[in-house]
Amino acid sequence: MGTDKDARTKLFKDSADDKSYIIRKCTFEDLELVKDVNEKELPEDYPFFFYKSILDNYPESFLIACSKEDTSKVIGYVMWRIERTPSKNSLRLVNKGHLVSIAVSQEYRRLGIASALLSSSMSKIKSHSTNEYVLEVRVSNYGAISLYQGFNFKTEGIKKKYYRDGENAYYMVFKVDHD
Ligand SMILES: CC(C)(COP(=O)(O)OP(=O)(O)OC[C@H]1O[C@@H](n2cnc3c(N)ncnc32)[C@H](O)[C@@H]1OP(=O)(O)O)[C@@H](O)C(=O)NCCC(=O)NCCS
Repeated sequence: MGTDKDARTKLFKDSADDKSYIIRKCTFEDLELVKDVNEKELPEDYPFFFYKSILDNYPESFLIACSKEDTSKVIGYVMWRIERTPSKNSLRLVNKGHLVSIAVSQEYRRLGIASALLSSSMSKIKSHSTNEYVLEVRVSNYGAISLYQGFNFKTEGIKKKYYRDGENAYYMVFKVDHD
């Protein structure tokens, strides 16, 4: 016999085709719930003011996924920031979209929610004349690596002991065609 959680997940999966979740912009009121999802799903925790500063500076690409039935319930989020760095070929500074964090609650995974969050947010961060999208991911995080490869991110290097626990990160980059 299935548990309540199994039933909820099944219901969600069955209706995933007509998208039983919604993607919307994060608001100040959502931030504590975003922080809760982050703390459950990732070892990297951030203080509240960090989320607030990302929301203040990059509100258009700070997106959350919610259940359509309860749009205040946060089940996933994505946040980006912009970095200005010298171009490889000249002294000109270029904008890079840096993925700060993405997570989806365990019981709602493999429904396309992270993909929907990524594609919607990447199109928003483009308004900053972004030439590249970049991110770090734990070398052991096969699920996330596979997600990013699906978005054409390529591994450009390894950042040794990038994480506090000493794990290495892959540095992955997706270059925008018009650069
Ligand atoms: C990584 C994460 C965000 C993916 O969220 P998701 O909503 O389940 O992802 P999607 O359903 O959009 O998956 C899209 C594709 O990515 C790949 N993928 C995602 N999770 C995967 C996994 N666990 N194993 C293998 N491939 C995976 C698959 O190709 C998948 O397509 P498919 O389901 O048709 O096979 C989610 O597992 C998560 O929150 N993990 C913990 C937090 C984390 O690691 N964040 C990334 C930090 S860099």
